[in-house]
Amino acid sequence: MAKKVLVTGGLGFIGSHTVVELQNKGFDVVIIDNLSNSSIAVLDGICNITGKLPEFEKIDLRDRSKVQAFFKKYNNLSGVIHFAASKAVGESVNKPLLYYENNINTLVYLLQEFCEMPAANVIFSSSCTVYGQADELPIKEHAPIKPAESPYGNTKQIGEEIIKDTCSAHNNVTAIALRYFNPIGAHESTYIGELPIGVPQNLVPFITQTAAGIRTQLSVFGNDYPTEDGTCVRDYIHVVDLAKAHVVALERLLSGSNKSSFEVFNLGTGKGSSVLEVINSFEKVSNKKLNYSIADRRPGDVIAAYADTEKANKELGWKATLSLDDALLSAWNWQKKLSKL
Ligand code: WQD
Repeated sequence: MAKKVLVTGGLGFIGSHTVVELQNKGFDVVIIDNLSNSSIAVLDGICNITGKLPEFEKIDLRDRSKVQAFFKKYNNLSGVIHFAASKAVGESVNKPLLYYENNINTLVYLLQEFCEMPAANVIFSSSCTVYGQADELPIKEHAPIKPAESPYGNTKQIGEEIIKDTCSAHNNVTAIALRYFNPIGAHESTYIGELPIGVPQNLVPFITQTAAGIRTQLSVFGNDYPTEDGTCVRDYIHVVDLAKAHVVALERLLSGSNKSSFEVFNLGTGKGSSVLEVINSFEKVSNKKLNYSIADRRPGDVIAAYADTEKANKELGWKATLSLDDALLSAWNWQKKLSKL
């Protein structure tokens, strides 16, 4: 009997790629998604890749009664991977209570159900944003957690603390928080990928939409930073590498190989790339000249952030294998399919 895993937000960008990798490893998957930032068509995309249609429940996790009903129906879960959350940094500054309700209340409702399970193995979607501008690079997991620069970032910090306290108080709950650096790219099949709603806030979807003619020009937010070429540095990790790390982390908990009830891992490539380096890589793999101009700095941006991957490599036994070029080519292929180019 295959183990069944709940993936909340499983129709989203990282969630859908993780569902594919779970199915590839023989897990049955049930997805909860409220479709607020995703499309039901992603289910078919997943099925086109794996040949297996995940179970799907359209539930808004802010409705506690619906969450309780779900766990009455699905009472044999082996694990949960929790992606469902609002994640737009800028929006969170303008709508903090929407973020605290949607990212924190829902987590508490889920944890209350996990505590009733015989064994709850939980993987939590966290973010390198918890480090703010780290004092040392590359960033290790024990780097100080800085005061959050946005309500979104705060919900990730608070979320980790809530889970940690729950694991300490309930010995049937174990968890791993995965702190993502910058997820980019799309599945090589082009059946699934990133579906930004409205004007993309993140660099790579803005680049691909500019190359596709949807956006006129990319603004590079500042070239006067203390970096090699003056533009900000980030650790861009292929979403498929990131998805595979979630399966490895879940298997760590299922096998009881975790060293404590709550663990944290940075998920990045360990390599920093500047905005201009990303643009150059994109132009190389797409063979297209990108229209961009230098603009003012974006408030809240950190200068540089890239992961120390030693802990994930050694303890999780996971390492990113795909390059920046691989990720940008996959993002461009996905964009061309979306735009029917
Ligand atoms: C990357 C770099 C921008 C757009 C955010 C969240 C983080 C995580 C990943 C959820 C920066 C520059 C961007 C543009 C630009 N999300 N840029 N022009 O800000 O590192 O991280 O997404 O977990 O929590 O904070 O990613 O892609 O927005 O920006 O010059 O049109 O690209 O200034 O240097 P970021 P990003």
